[in-house]
Amino acid sequence: MRTARVALMLLAGLFVSCGTHQQSAIDPAGPQSENIAGLWWFFFWTLTSIFLAVMVFMLWTLTRRHRGIEQEPLEIRHAPSPETESRINRTVAGCTIATVVILFVLLIASVGTGKSVSELANKNNGLTVDVTGNEWWWHIRYQNSDASMVFDTANEIHIPVGRPVQIRGMSQDVIHSFWVPNLHGKRDLIPSHVTTEWIQADRPGIYRGQCAEFCGLQHAHMSVYVIAEPESKFQDWYNAQLEPAASPSTPVTQHGQQVFLNNACIFCHQIRGTTAGGQNGPDLTHFGSRMGIAANTVPNTKGNLGGWILDPQSMKPGNHMATIALPSTDLQPLIEYLESLK
Ligand code: CUA
Repeated sequence: MRTARVALMLLAGLFVSCGTHQQSAIDPAGPQSENIAGLWWFFFWTLTSIFLAVMVFMLWTLTRRHRGIEQEPLEIRHAPSPETESRINRTVAGCTIATVVILFVLLIASVGTGKSVSELANKNNGLTVDVTGNEWWWHIRYQNSDASMVFDTANEIHIPVGRPVQIRGMSQDVIHSFWVPNLHGKRDLIPSHVTTEWIQADRPGIYRGQCAEFCGLQHAHMSVYVIAEPESKFQDWYNAQLEPAASPSTPVTQHGQQVFLNNACIFCHQIRGTTAGGQNGPDLTHFGSRMGIAANTVPNTKGNLGGWILDPQSMKPGNHMATIALPSTDLQPLIEYLESLK
């Protein structure tokens, strides 16, 4: 009973929404996941029907009264009559043919889904996003043929509703897997190899994604949000991201900027418009506009940010963020400055 309940909960966990944001493979929000969910349900109902048919047949044979065999002479009890023999042969042949046909139908359905999923590539309209897996965060780069229009962000991908977006997956270290269940299936991110897929969201929403390939200690804390919004809202976000970071406008945030630029932060983080140009960690140019910290391990609030800067190892053990001892007179302004980077 206990085992059954745990199994049910695990199964439910695979499909139901996670937290306040959606993460469900059977609640498709775009053509790719619709195709995949369709295939999933087709398999589910086909195989469930077969399972039920087998169970019903088994129960029928178990409850059926023995007829004939008990009355037959002892020496032929284990040698069925020619009529029974041919009936058994016909049944076995029929079931074998049915199995082969069903397997072929499932195969054709799978290939058909693969073909439908690849069709979105033909509708590509130039929006390309590079997603690079890192231990344990996502580097996001919006590509453009004009180099001045290329920008970086982290752990959050904004896309316009109704437009196909090309995702080019890469990895900086080990194999990760990019998976946003409401939008598409899993795609491995492999070092020194680019994998390509297309996603499209047909309704606005915040879709949670998760690294789906075990990649080390903090694999579970490697999530990404895909934020699908109407075209005009997306354009506003896009144009804001192209801008360099806002200059600090108050004495406190000015102090905070100095703390950032005079500490080891600059070795890993970039803030466009300042001298901080580190490339090992997430770009912080518009950090204040993002939803989460540490690959969405915690929501982006001043309290969480303070905890993260002071002791990143207790929040996410094993991560590559350096611990920098800061007096509270420096920590508070630094938090104010980073949160002001909208
Ligand atoms: Cu990255 Cu698991």
